[in-house]
Amino acid sequence: MKLRPTFYHAFFIIVFAALIASCGGSEEPIQLTIPESTPVAKKGSDIPEEVKKLLTMHTCLGCHKMDKKLIGPTFKDIAARGYTAEEMVQLMQVPQPENWPDYPPMASMSFVAKGDLLAIAEWITEIPVE
Ligand code: HEC
Repeated sequence: MKLRPTFYHAFFIIVFAALIASCGGSEEPIQLTIPESTPVAKKGSDIPEEVKKLLTMHTCLGCHKMDKKLIGPTFKDIAARGYTAEEMVQLMQVPQPENWPDYPPMASMSFVAKGDLLAIAEWITEIPVE
């Protein structure tokens, strides 16, 4: 017996549909790779961009570095003192040179906006100390 062309078409469409459906079902599961945590963020020896901007603008970096002693103590040494951010702002505005007998006295930083000093101080309190 002879099939009419429209039957042929319908037959092929059904076969195709079945093929496509079976392909879709056998897809490989998507592999999720968890990125390794960035060691830089953990080490804490890098200064975030927005803080660096303030430290540069207000010349702090001329005397203070993250972990290299310059004219002033390192930010790590200051962090190790365990001040609160508020206490630190106070010390920036009214330095107490007796806190650092091995260093020359720091000039008052009260010409710097308090908000900027506070942002710097808050960052210092977050520096991990060993
Ligand atoms: C001309 C050099 C110099 C500059 C510029 C400078 N410092 Fe200092 N800083 C020092 C020295 C020296 C000390 C230690 C002696 C002292 O505290 O008087 C010190 C101490 C500190 C302390 C510790 C205070 C304490 O009593 O423990 C903080 C906090 C500090 N500086 C923050 C800053 C910030 C923030 C800036 C920028 C706005 C800045 N310093 C700019 C030299 C400097």
